[in-house]
Amino acid sequence: MKGIVLAGGNGTRLHPLTHAVSKQILPVYNKPMIYYPLSVLMLGGIKEILVISTPHHLDMFRALLGDGSRLGISMAYAEQPEANGIAEAFVIGAEFIGADSVALVLGDNIFHGPGFSRILHREVSRIDGCVLFGYPVKDPERYGVGTVDEEGRLLSLREKPVDSTSNLAITGLYLYDNDVVDIAKNVMPSARGELEITDVNRVYLERGKARLVSLGRGFAWLDTGTHESLLQAGQYVQLLELRQGVRIACLEEIAFRMGFIDAGACYELGEEMRHTEYGKYLMEITADSG
Ligand code: DAU
Repeated sequence: MKGIVLAGGNGTRLHPLTHAVSKQILPVYNKPMIYYPLSVLMLGGIKEILVISTPHHLDMFRALLGDGSRLGISMAYAEQPEANGIAEAFVIGAEFIGADSVALVLGDNIFHGPGFSRILHREVSRIDGCVLFGYPVKDPERYGVGTVDEEGRLLSLREKPVDSTSNLAITGLYLYDNDVVDIAKNVMPSARGELEITDVNRVYLERGKARLVSLGRGFAWLDTGTHESLLQAGQYVQLLELRQGVRIACLEEIAFRMGFIDAGACYELGEEMRHTEYGKYLMEITADSG
């Protein structure tokens, strides 16, 4: 399976923070925001990843992540000149996806919870149709919203409904078989001129090929859309990291634990940052096995 991180948009709701930099490069406690969605793809075992962003911002991601070889993965980059909709990622990424299945994660989505890696592996390995991830929220009108039967089959789907009877938000992580490329190429732009991800998902729903995995209440799906929620997301990460002594979305550690790089390579990445707690952590976790 290939992976796409969609990290475009204008970030207008975070101005003036995002006047000069991309939203998805802003810090969430001790790492750039894009580390969090990228960690999700890596935990799913995905090693070929495309970052899509605005022409203006793409170089920042290139500078941050390079060709991915340091993490034992392969990074590619593509431009989305206008925010023409989340589903445009599959049109822009068509060649990159080729004949493969694909996972799309929004560059500003933060996931953290027990057993997530196991859930991702399971779903990635048996993809047939599309898999969405649902999360109960108190303000469903801000999101795509779905309903499911007991087997996790998606029964209905609406984008930002004003009168939702379901509180199950569709998160910004989507897994698809290869049909998604053709589907995205054929959906009509919405009233706001965008290729809507919900319209793509609805095609799978109508084909009876859409499933939804519910992320339970012990899970964290964090918002970074406002100044308050961005700060709170950082505080959440800080709290857990300091309390538990482990790192959330530490890409170097994930690359090591997934077997993408060996202990020695991971130790060296830590050594480059040895003046930070982040770097020391990497050196500590690899010192014994190196
Ligand atoms: O976060 C989950 C929600 O994401 C889902 O529940 C909704 O169904 C889905 O439509 C989407 O809703 P948003 O209102 O959050 O979408 P927004 O337009 O804000 O885009 C989400 C992120 O994707 C944002 O960081 C910018 C980026 N983006 C968006 C568009 C439309 C792009 O990079 N390119 C785009 O063309």
